[in-house]
Amino acid sequence: MVKGCEMLFRAAAGTQAFRGLAPKRRATADRGPQPGRPLLVRHRQHLTNLVYYATFREPVGRFVAPKLKNGFSDMLIHIANVLTAEELATCRAHLAEASWTDGRATAGQQSAKVKANLQLAEDSAEARDLGQIVVRALERNPFFMAAALPRHVFPPNFNRYEPGMTYGAHVDNAIRQVGRSPLRLRTDVSATLFLSDPADYDGGELIIDGAQSVKLPAGDLVVYAATSLHRVAPVTRGARNAAFFWVQSMVKDESERALLFELDRSIVELNRSLPDNPALVRLTACYHNLLRRWADM
Ligand code: NI
Repeated sequence: MVKGCEMLFRAAAGTQAFRGLAPKRRATADRGPQPGRPLLVRHRQHLTNLVYYATFREPVGRFVAPKLKNGFSDMLIHIANVLTAEELATCRAHLAEASWTDGRATAGQQSAKVKANLQLAEDSAEARDLGQIVVRALERNPFFMAAALPRHVFPPNFNRYEPGMTYGAHVDNAIRQVGRSPLRLRTDVSATLFLSDPADYDGGELIIDGAQSVKLPAGDLVVYAATSLHRVAPVTRGARNAAFFWVQSMVKDESERALLFELDRSIVELNRSLPDNPALVRLTACYHNLLRRWADM
């Protein structure tokens, strides 16, 4: 049995449903760190099989484009409809009134030179509460689980690009501190959850390894290897809001992760077309035995 991922939050996470709070009340609610509360919120849902999305009812994702590097297919995965319409509306309503700060606050020395955008302050109640909506959506998404094999999910943050704003080519920091806590995560997987309707802005494409241009419908997620050089093209009209976060994966090596994902997808397809074939049991055993070999916990 594979344990569910741990979602990392600052101390006050998970204490209150966010959706019921009106913006004014939310702004004054004190949700700062509280002594004695656990910093790690362990995801309670235990997953019994990593071949998750065979039972998922809606089409939840597709590849944007596979590419080959050193003979391996790197993962660049588009997962559609990660947020429900209601969750998306909640995020958008609150971001419309949010207090934005200079995005360079969280950039490394090199990245800060090319970064010109806005972000929610990492330790703000807004970022924490909206981040919980995103994490809940990730937890229930079998496609994300199978692709990222998350061990830890960095608390999501939110950014905004207005006309003239951009983020030049950079690689995300390998190790990131979680807020002001002593927790540090290795960033294996990067993810961007698009929150603005693509018709509402021009530019703002996420360009990965100089080749893949990604601009997705609101509520859709792109997941890619954190080792990628990437940038955000300048926004020339409107505004582009998104959530972004990183994952420390149980499987650090992106080629191994990609192979497991491919194997997982193949087993799911075979389960649909040849559900009674006894070879499926052996193939599933191969999946789990490879995961046992490669996962670090
Ligand atoms: Ni980045």
